[in-house]
Amino acid sequence: MTDPAPTPVRPRLVLGIDTSCDDTGVGVVELAPDGTLTVRSNRVWSQTVHARYGGIMPELASREHVERIAEITRDALAEAGITLADVDAVAATSGPGLVGALLVGLMYGKGVAQALDVPFYAAHHLEGHIHAAAAVGDLHAPYLALVVSGGHTHLFDVPRDGEYVLVGATKDDAAGEAFDKIARLAGLGYPGGPAISEAATRGDPHAVPFKEPLQGQKGFDFSFSGLKTAALLAHRAGAKPDDLAASFQRMAVQFLVKTTIRAAEATGRDVVVVSGGVAANRALREAFARSGLRVVFPGAGLNTDNGAMIALAGAAALREGRPPSSLDGGASAYAPLANA
Ligand code: KG4
Ligand code: ZN
Repeated sequence: MTDPAPTPVRPRLVLGIDTSCDDTGVGVVELAPDGTLTVRSNRVWSQTVHARYGGIMPELASREHVERIAEITRDALAEAGITLADVDAVAATSGPGLVGALLVGLMYGKGVAQALDVPFYAAHHLEGHIHAAAAVGDLHAPYLALVVSGGHTHLFDVPRDGEYVLVGATKDDAAGEAFDKIARLAGLGYPGGPAISEAATRGDPHAVPFKEPLQGQKGFDFSFSGLKTAALLAHRAGAKPDDLAASFQRMAVQFLVKTTIRAAEATGRDVVVVSGGVAANRALREAFARSGLRVVFPGAGLNTDNGAMIALAGAAALREGRPPSSLDGGASAYAPLANA
């Protein structure tokens, strides 16, 4: 019989990097000997260069990551009160995302890990989002995980830590994408999520009669394109932007929460983590608070893309004793977290 691995007696520090899209995120997480995870720092540089194009320009995103990554890493280390030499492991997002953008953080992270001779973990962007919430309640599987962001609307069952079973996903637009597009249509600005949320406080949530998407479905999928078309028609018919925002938000929230409750009943889970940019939405948080489920959201600054969530995913992998990733692995634009 081999001896069990010795329990580490000192906290370990994990550097996490996310450059999957248009945010350069670097964070530091402390893994205590008892397994507790604490975010020590979280620095994000949100690129503004894309605003004038009305969408993200992948080549510009990569270039900005290259220009900013060293500075944001220095800031994250300083905020954590440590130096590079204190880092015990490095995690970086390898997918999904814009390949050119991902490669910047991935290569930088691998370089740091190799120079320090510490383990490197290639992290999945969605696993990062999920860990941003799970770490808050020191949560362990089983639980359901709803990831609602600008690029994703995915519902996973997590039967065991590190195992993900896809139970539902959007058939068209992501939830955040719908917030962004409807905000743009109504002239409310970008990013659309916070703009809609703010305008909704002044609007009538019953003024525009949105129909709940995918009514009667047996599964747990999502769809937002119908709401988008209904918003366009209402806008053309003269709906007030504040009413449009309030009515759309009411229906989007109702649809997300009802589908998640049904999935929780079907899988027998009573704990749900909700993460990704849209998890910052106040109306969504309030509706989940009334759902009867135990719902855990990411802490402040951890909803939208960031590096601390990737450090959390890396620290969880370290805690679970998962083998480090190869330094030969590449980045992938489309990387499913689960195949089931
Ligand atoms: O997680 P994230 O930073 O990026 C992706 O991985 O996609 O999410 C960004 C999305 C945007 O679509 C933004 O409009 C949305 O999250 N968002 C919100 C709120 N804050 C950000 N949506 C609704 N309500 C909010 N308060
Ligand atoms: Zn994201």
